[in-house]
Amino acid sequence: MKGLICLGCGMLVVALTFVVTMGQEESPPAYVGMKGCVCHKLKSLGNQVGHWQEKDPHAKAYESLKSEESKKVAAQMGIKDPTADKRCLECHATASVAPEDQRVNLKMEDGVSCEGCHGPGSKYCKKQIMIDRERAVARGLVVIKTPEQRQKVCGRCHNKDVPKEFYKELDFVKDWEPVKHTLPPEEN
Ligand code: HEC
Ligand code: HEC
Ligand code: HEC
Repeated sequence: MKGLICLGCGMLVVALTFVVTMGQEESPPAYVGMKGCVCHKLKSLGNQVGHWQEKDPHAKAYESLKSEESKKVAAQMGIKDPTADKRCLECHATASVAPEDQRVNLKMEDGVSCEGCHGPGSKYCKKQIMIDRERAVARGLVVIKTPEQRQKVCGRCHNKDVPKEFYKELDFVKDWEPVKHTLPPEEN
């Protein structure tokens, strides 16, 4: 009997260890925020950050929630403050979908940030990993090249859940111009 109990305990310990290690290995990647994307300010890399800040409407997506038009449409839906309501924030601010403890890194003001499309970066943002595309993808980097990949990523927010006053039918490949940022030609 004693032996059986010991065997039971032993199996429990093994099982628990297994669950704990599995948990560590599979802990979901975290949002690192715009600071984690600093290399992409380099001209030699294509300065995607500069482009996003200056030209990409996604960088202003949170700011847009403050407009009169935004407040009006929100009010019609019974929403008092669109800058604080999940029903608006989920598509307008990546920070709003990040877990509470990761919001220090990612500010609401960053609107739809790099990670909003390319996935949370904690496991792929290091340079040694980033230079190996396959490894980066295995660690969470979302590459968005093919029409199917675009449909999947862009369609998460560009869909019929957009308040009808603002909805636009987009072609995710052709209507890429204001968002367009690439690697310098020699890197492609
Ligand atoms: C996390 C949500 C989200 C994802 C993912 C997303 N978008 Fe957007 N997009 C928005 C929001 C919100 C706006 C409105 C920004 C603003 O002006 O405040 C926007 C605006 C745009 C605009 C400008 C539309 C206009 O007013 O003319 C284009 C073009 C666009 N997105 C293309 C894309 C493409 C292409 C993808 C996929 C590669 C994509 N978006 C992925 C949320 C998203
Ligand atoms: C399902 C995602 C989604 C939700 C939810 C959402 N939006 Fe948007 N919003 C977008 C997208 C995407 C655009 C850009 C237009 C387009 O391409 O359809 C946009 C555009 C806008 C714009 C125009 C920005 C500009 O300056 O051109 C405003 C304002 C806006 N939304 C406010 C709101 C408010 C207020 C709410 C909550 C009541 C809300 N949105 C909920 C995705 C969303
Ligand atoms: C609205 C979604 C969206 C946002 C936000 C976004 N990207 Fe992208 N990114 C894309 C898409 C789509 C492509 C693929 C372009 C193509 O077809 O070559 C891309 C391509 C890239 C590439 C080139 C990869 C390659 O293989 O050619 C880099 C680097 C990149 N993004 C970095 C960033 C950085 C850094 C930010 C933030 C400043 C950012 N992206 C924000 C959608 C986005």
